[in-house]
Amino acid sequence: MRVLVTAGPTREAIDPVRYISNRSSGRMGFALARAAVEAGHEVVLVAGPVSLPTPRGVSRRIDIESAEEMARATLAELPKADALFMAAAVADFTLQRVARKKLKKADGIPELKLVRTRDVLDIAGRRKRPGQVICGFDAETGEARTEALRKLKSKKLDWIVANDVSRPGCGFATKTNAVAIHGRDGTEKNVGLRSKLACARIILATVLGTGK
Ligand code: CTP
Repeated sequence: MRVLVTAGPTREAIDPVRYISNRSSGRMGFALARAAVEAGHEVVLVAGPVSLPTPRGVSRRIDIESAEEMARATLAELPKADALFMAAAVADFTLQRVARKKLKKADGIPELKLVRTRDVLDIAGRRKRPGQVICGFDAETGEARTEALRKLKSKKLDWIVANDVSRPGCGFATKTNAVAIHGRDGTEKNVGLRSKLACARIILATVLGTGK
């Protein structure tokens, strides 16, 4: 299968030297890309700014910075993909206006006006063609199950992988994770704490089965 994976954070520029971002390391998405290659799939990886090597065997890595670049790259690749794993932590908000010159202290405290970014996963869910599989990710601090099930439905996903980033050993800066995999068909699989690669292998097998 042709598998599209997104990973890492995005950066929303404030001015030429500053940006707003999040704590995503990209590890979960890169582990998914590696697991997908191992399973014999053709993998395209869209990556935000991370310091991780491209897993061996990935066909193409597209490096992006902002949420809008993430949207453009992912939506351009989507029609060719049989499955999308949207593991990137895409910014929900971006600057309404990016300052062309560095903001100076002498000019006072800036008021940053934020606007919504495009929700790539939501768009992907609406554009989904028959047979295509779309898997979202949901990082929460508590209430993970309720929120995951809500997003599974509202974004018209086939699968969502939920994790509670406030649990020890889980989430952004860690090498391990514990997740719950929810399917549109009612499947619910809890994956206890283990390496992100081990989680990725289970997610891949649950969502795509063992076929290529
Ligand atoms: N996502 C996306 N595009 C965005 C924001 C998020 O594709 N602009 C994707 C993420 O990659 C992830 C999923 O949506 O797979 C969950 O993101 P989240 O921001 O938690 O979902 P929201 O519905 O925006 O809910 P919340 O209010 O919790 O932010």
